Amino acid sequence: MDQFRFNKILILIGALSCLLLSTVASARHLLAAPVPLELTQFCSGTDNPTLCVDTIAPVLAGNFDPVRAVEGEINATLQKASEIAASISKQLEDPATAKEALDALNICKTQYDDMLDSIKEALNMVVQMNVMEAYRKMSAVISYKSSCDDAYTESPGVEMPFRQEATTLFQLSGNCVTVLNTIVKTTTV
Ligand SMILES: *[C@@H]1O[C@H](CO)[C@@H](O)[C@H](O)[C@H]1NC(C)=O
Repeated sequence: MDQFRFNKILILIGALSCLLLSTVASARHLLAAPVPLELTQFCSGTDNPTLCVDTIAPVLAGNFDPVRAVEGEINATLQKASEIAASISKQLEDPATAKEALDALNICKTQYDDMLDSIKEALNMVVQMNVMEAYRKMSAVISYKSSCDDAYTESPGVEMPFRQEATTLFQLSGNCVTVLNTIVKTTTV
């Protein structure tokens, strides 16, 4: 086979695998699109049902499983809390950060570190089917978040740079608490 023909075949193979990959990707997208009715019901009692459905739907595979669904929402909370914790650490290390902001940032660093531990423990509890303890751990997340908020309230003139993110975190953790509470109420006699 001459070099020219060989190159043409390579290009053809490349084009075909691109086509195949994009077909697989869009088929996946189509499969992920319909939200199971059980998930809509599962999230309906929360304060942020749309956020609840949007964060859990992508991790659900096959039959609806409430434990896996709540695990998905706790994972989403962990992800958001990790992003905020990283942002806090970055600002603490940045010499350009205003001195007036350091007190609040230091308090928030402690609160978010403890929060991350609490979320990870909640995940372990859910995996071990200890829903009651997971509920307690996720309730604590909201207290840690509030303590960080308070640190900013007590620092006049200092703006919380991650306020929007913290609001999303509050909504995600609130959703976890609500669904965990529902599971506790429906599974214990
Ligand atoms: C949650 O995260 C853990 C650790 O990354 C993973 O093993 C698990 O599959 C995730 N659960 C869901 C429901 O996405």
